[in-house]
Amino acid sequence: MGIVLKEISKSYDGRTVLKNLNLEINQGEFHVLLGPSGGGKTTTLSVIAGLTEQDSGSVSIGGLDVSKLSPGERRIGFVFQDHALFPHLTVFDNVAYGLRVRRIKGYEMTRKVEYYLSKVSIAKEKGKFPHQLSGGQKQRTALARALVIEPEILLMDEPMSSLDAITKETVRDELKSIQQEIGVTTVYVTHDQNEALLLGDRVSVLNNGRVEQIESPDELFYHPKTEFVARFVGFKNILKVSPAGINTHEAAVLINNDGMKHPIKIRVKKYPVFEKGKEINLCIHPEKITLKREDETVAGDLNRIRGKIIKRKNNGNGFMAIVDIGGTTLHAAISSDFKVHENVWVCFAPDAAHPLCGKKCREPEQRRKCFNGGNTLAL
Ligand SMILES: Nc1ncnc2c1ncn2[C@@H]1O[C@H](COP(=O)(O)OP(=O)(O)O)[C@@H](O)[C@H]1O
Ligand SMILES: [Mg+2]
Repeated sequence: MGIVLKEISKSYDGRTVLKNLNLEINQGEFHVLLGPSGGGKTTTLSVIAGLTEQDSGSVSIGGLDVSKLSPGERRIGFVFQDHALFPHLTVFDNVAYGLRVRRIKGYEMTRKVEYYLSKVSIAKEKGKFPHQLSGGQKQRTALARALVIEPEILLMDEPMSSLDAITKETVRDELKSIQQEIGVTTVYVTHDQNEALLLGDRVSVLNNGRVEQIESPDELFYHPKTEFVARFVGFKNILKVSPAGINTHEAAVLINNDGMKHPIKIRVKKYPVFEKGKEINLCIHPEKITLKREDETVAGDLNRIRGKIIKRKNNGNGFMAIVDIGGTTLHAAISSDFKVHENVWVCFAPDAAHPLCGKKCREPEQRRKCFNGGNTLAL
């Protein structure tokens, strides 16, 4: 069942948490709500579930306005951040709980519980109590407990936050395939951009109680609309520029980020949002930047900026150099043989920069180009 949130507002003690929030989640979709802590993610889930009553606006599930229905009438499975397992019940009884409440007993109950216990690979632990389980096992139990009632909607609130990196990866992959197999409409809350990009069919970025951008992970990652979204999905290279000269295909822009000793002139693709003298932010993917040594020649069609490597980081799947270009820094994906303190040319093509203009990128050709360039999600 699809979910439609229309103009949802919610305040606590005069403080607005959700502001006319609109969100449409498709039937069968794995939808991720991504945003900073305190951004209203849990409140949004809680409003969908009926655990929190909105001040205004409506919630529809499968085309039906459920705003006045109690949580029990909404056929929703909820996996809470802290698992919220019943400590005095075994794994089996935790999972059976929702069925017993619905007066499903005997063989039918046992069959369903056993089915979901094995689906989330926790059947062997069914006689254990929550305190005898690892974090991953608690998570699996909580997931089975939510799924056993065969909900129309599955809501998950930062379910992986207490798991270690390796367990997280396994549970995440399994969750994605279970969701695809069952096809239950899922809303998954996280503040972790990698998790959002890996799991979501679409991702909504929440900022200040509103949805700032809603997109497929690729689109969100390569074409963030705003600086907030760009920073949230991990872009570190944000250039504050003002166009100085604009011709048919290109614009000359001056980089004047805070702290720059002198503005630097570069050439970028001409975007419709450019206006002479009007400041705009551009972002550049680190994989689209190449570093060259001072004595190396640089192709004439590339921008080149003089810089010095001030830091080198191993981010687990490659190296990243942080280059000072005169008061501001750029991150570049590099091979390991560049050293800290080396002087370099920072090189990138004029079309490597993406404008953060607040609008959706409507240039299919540009989008294809971005998607073909590199596939590393961790920045
Ligand atoms: N029951 C409540 N009473 C008062 N304030 C609340 C309550 N629930 C949430 N808030 C406040 O609403 C804001 C958003 O909270 P929440 O939805 O939990 O954000 P998130 O899940 O994105 O971290 C926070 O500032 C939080 O303190
Ligand atoms: Mg929360």
